[in-house]
Amino acid sequence: MAIVLDSHRTETPPPLHLKRLPQHIAIIMDGNGRWAKERGRSRLAGHRAGTENIRKVIDRVADYGIPYLTLFAFSTENWSRPQYEVRGLMQLLSFYLRRETKKLDENGIRVVHLGDLSALHPRLQRQVNQAVELTRNNTRMTLALAWNYGGRADIVEAVRRIVSDGVRPEDIDESTVSSRLATTDLPDPDLIIRTAGEMRISNFLLWQAAYAELSFIPAYWPDFGTSNIDEALITYSQRTRRFGGVPNEERDPETVSANDKNGAGVDTSG
Ligand code: FPP
Repeated sequence: MAIVLDSHRTETPPPLHLKRLPQHIAIIMDGNGRWAKERGRSRLAGHRAGTENIRKVIDRVADYGIPYLTLFAFSTENWSRPQYEVRGLMQLLSFYLRRETKKLDENGIRVVHLGDLSALHPRLQRQVNQAVELTRNNTRMTLALAWNYGGRADIVEAVRRIVSDGVRPEDIDESTVSSRLATTDLPDPDLIIRTAGEMRISNFLLWQAAYAELSFIPAYWPDFGTSNIDEALITYSQRTRRFGGVPNEERDPETVSANDKNGAGVDTSG
């Protein structure tokens, strides 16, 4: 698949050659409403500005060679927003898919959907499915659109599948659950970014976020730019991921056995 560099792009390529990049970034796009309010505009104007910001972010993440990007765009709780806002958000998804699907395909991006599609208007369901179908063989990057997604609903659905598959309790382990989540084809997120300064997960990828590094960026989503991504990646690359263990260089010397002195093994006993 040839990579088409879009003529709209003015950004320079990523300046960083980082040794440790996440394989999967997931973003909670927050702050559209506050962005709009500060400008005396409607919340929907904020969501429109947020939609316009998506392409730039996808391009930047793809330029880094990061293979998975998930965007949390509409949660299972967002239905409780005023009807006009919910309707406006649905129209924005439709608009976005109409305008961007071909471009995503030309850029080698595979689109997948996370969440319950069945509650959406049938026309919108078709649009999502068409985007998924058109791009299914692309390999440069996977873009997961979490739309009508909730972490708890995802786990409940996985439990239902386990039961209906007739799995015996003693045969259930973590992979039994992971393989039945909406993210079955995706690795767990290494880095979750939330914009607009709030520090919570808001029912996003609850199971999958077990060992994700978290990055809270003050910028509202419509203002979130490539420099924010660069900074988040620099910070990520400097973090030591422990997965509940202790890296060798931080262990008490007497506890480092001859076997793992030079290894990357982690001590999970404590
Ligand atoms: C949170 O901001 C944002 C949302 C609930 C919607 C996110 C949607 C988009 C960025 C646009 C549509 C996406 C696609 C893929 C077409 P908020 O409204 O809660 O902001 P606030 O906390 O400042 O009120």
